[in-house]
Amino acid sequence: MTEILVTDRSGTQRALQAEDGLTLMEAIREQGIDELLALCGGCCSCATCHVYVDADSATALPPPSEDENDLLESSSHRQATSRLACQIRLTPAVAGLRVVIAPED
Ligand code: FES
Repeated sequence: MTEILVTDRSGTQRALQAEDGLTLMEAIREQGIDELLALCGGCCSCATCHVYVDADSATALPPPSEDENDLLESSSHRQATSRLACQIRLTPAVAGLRVVIAPED
């Protein structure tokens, strides 16, 4: 299990215990946080799983793929540490990951 900290759009932070191997999007959805719409189901084609990763956590992640980067470019809320939650695989290496769910586009 990997602990992650998720802040929703109301500013409420929750500590989640996520099964290793899930994507961040799956872990957030499994906890009933449905404001992360994830409309494409994790196919990297909708950008409705947009999150902001805290700067320390961001360095522990592999960089975004070209497809992820292109999708993030389409968001008017993109920031330096924006990521798509469906593209982040949870492993012990990212334990303590802190993310904020981005505003809806
Ligand atoms: S769920 Fe659609 S891009 Fe992540």
